[in-house]
Amino acid sequence: MSGDAPAWRRHLRPSLRDLEAYHVPSVDALARLHANECPEPWPAEVMADIAERVAAIDLGRYPDRTPLRLRARLAERHGCRPEEVILGNGSDEIIALLLAVLSGDGERPSAILLPSPTFVMYELSAHAIGLQIIKVPLDQDLELDGPAMRRALRERAPALVFLARPNNPTSSLWDRRLIMELVAEHPATVFVIDEAYIAYAPGESLWRADRPDNYVHMGTLSKVGLAAIRVGYCVAPPALAAALEQVRPPYNIPEPSAVIAEAILERHGDVQAAMIERTIANRDRLAAILGRLPGARLFPARANIVLARLDPPAAAPRLREALAARGILIKDVSGLAGLSGCVRVSVGTAAELDLLEAALADLDPAIWSER
Ligand SMILES: Cc1ncc(COP(=O)(O)O)c(C=O)c1O
Repeated sequence: MSGDAPAWRRHLRPSLRDLEAYHVPSVDALARLHANECPEPWPAEVMADIAERVAAIDLGRYPDRTPLRLRARLAERHGCRPEEVILGNGSDEIIALLLAVLSGDGERPSAILLPSPTFVMYELSAHAIGLQIIKVPLDQDLELDGPAMRRALRERAPALVFLARPNNPTSSLWDRRLIMELVAEHPATVFVIDEAYIAYAPGESLWRADRPDNYVHMGTLSKVGLAAIRVGYCVAPPALAAALEQVRPPYNIPEPSAVIAEAILERHGDVQAAMIERTIANRDRLAAILGRLPGARLFPARANIVLARLDPPAAAPRLREALAARGILIKDVSGLAGLSGCVRVSVGTAAELDLLEAALADLDPAIWSER
């Protein structure tokens, strides 16, 4: 092989040239406070029930093209028809499918509008297929900037808007009235309301079975104790749901994932609710721990995430590094627009928070130095 670029490289999508792949450190850690998971373990009796059901799977057979029983359960939960529920291999796949079906024609690629900062996969997936990306910065309080959103919607007429509520990485819960007004004012734009973290803001869901027909609800089981099985979904108006089904890869939900998701939804919802409740309680403790850092400003936390702005800003990467050296992973988000000096810390179990508390009590004071 020569050192020259291979001849096929000219066929690569130009938009991939400056695209960085999604990166999450995969290291053994004592405390995983960097990935916004539900940290609480499932009790042994639930794991035993799941093991029995998984053992009964005929591994040589394809699963349903889409798992009908799981689809029906989710439809029941949302008071809609099963055909309106589209299942994805995580909501990451739903994002890619929505972008694919609303991407416009080859000559005029669609524009998508994103508040900034928000979940990175919206931009990464849109960029990968060459869509235009319009970013509207959040305001000082990390709330949606209503006038700027209205201007961008009016002037750029995007095909899609993604609104994560609560948002990642800010943990903020954007104004419900403003969002519903924007949806009503722009019927030619599809609004995807991503409620990945809504379990941590009880009573705040925007979902209504009689929603407008440019409204898509997106959800995932990843943040409620089931990140390992990769099940995400959306509820879309019938015509859009039909288009999504045209591009969805068949068999995208592995049978073990479908079986586990069904078991949890049908039989272990009370256990799951208790895990979420404990996580919400531990969020208060995490906020109290971070609030004791010198000069830290905390933002209101409505997901299983606490965002803290450190002073001086250079303390953010130093703190991440110092904690990583002790096996505690957090995310330094200080490089994102508007988040100078910020770290994002996911809620951990009580034991993980004990470790964090002990590590913070023992930090090298140089972390807070101005230089
Ligand atoms: C706002 C938001 N939406 C969607 C996802 C993707 O979730 P999954 O693909 O695990 O369903 C994430 C993951 O962090 C997220 O933060």
